Amino acid sequence: MDLGSPRFRAELREKVGKVKNFIRVALREEAPSPIVLRLMREADLPMLHGWLKRAHVREWWAGEEALLPFEEIRARYLPRVMAGENVTPYIAMLGERPIGYAQSYVAMGSGAGWWEDETDPGVRGIDQFLCEPSDLGQGLGTRMVKALVARLFEDPAVTRIQTDPDPRNLRAIRCYEKAGFRALGTIVTPDGAALYMAQERPGTDAHAQRRSQTSS
Ligand SMILES: CC(C)(COP(=O)(O)OP(=O)(O)OC[C@H]1O[C@@H](n2cnc3c(N)ncnc32)[C@H](O)[C@@H]1OP(=O)(O)O)[C@@H](O)C(=O)NCCC(=O)NCCS
Repeated sequence: MDLGSPRFRAELREKVGKVKNFIRVALREEAPSPIVLRLMREADLPMLHGWLKRAHVREWWAGEEALLPFEEIRARYLPRVMAGENVTPYIAMLGERPIGYAQSYVAMGSGAGWWEDETDPGVRGIDQFLCEPSDLGQGLGTRMVKALVARLFEDPAVTRIQTDPDPRNLRAIRCYEKAGFRALGTIVTPDGAALYMAQERPGTDAHAQRRSQTSS
């Protein structure tokens, strides 16, 4: 075979092209779109109102909120109102598709009986839900929570991230475990019993056992 012949070079180019194409396709398939948490806007509120009525959201999140008229949901979730309570709302996006709602809050000074023992201003809390029932149980929630945790730890002031699922919400608890949270004990919140789960800023395990002392 003449390695310098035009025919050999053309065949080689074609084969290299096929390999490159195979790698491009494989990478596209193996690297799912990242989940991006964008700040919620006022224009998202009608969409959120619709989500809160869905059965899987009502069950573990909305409760009686699902029955509230739009104006009351607007009054509660308007981003500038939430900012006044140190809560930041997000819409989780998978590419162009909104897949859920999430919020983070500064635990210390929450008021209304929440986190009254918290003295660390670096502690953030998170809550979230996926909007489509058909998305549940496929790992999307874990990716969403990981994305939110990574986003919050980008702020060097954040020391710890906590969450407080209903102890009966086994799917959420497992999701949080997969996203790096540890269950540190049951607590009583103004919403009732909760499992306190937390993760420290990576590389700083100093506070790891602190919250376990609050368990009952
Ligand atoms: C909580 C939520 C965000 C989790 O997202 P998700 O995509 O459903 O969760 P994932 O698929 O990432 O992980 C769920 C895990 O729980 C497991 N699971 C599901 N149902 C379960 C059950 N009844 N008991 C125990 N484990 C269960 C799944 O098998 C999976 O674990 P595995 O990967 O080890 O098999 C989503 O389910 C949701 O929006 N639920 C409704 C609202 C809600 O509960 N919000 C949380 C309030 S704290």
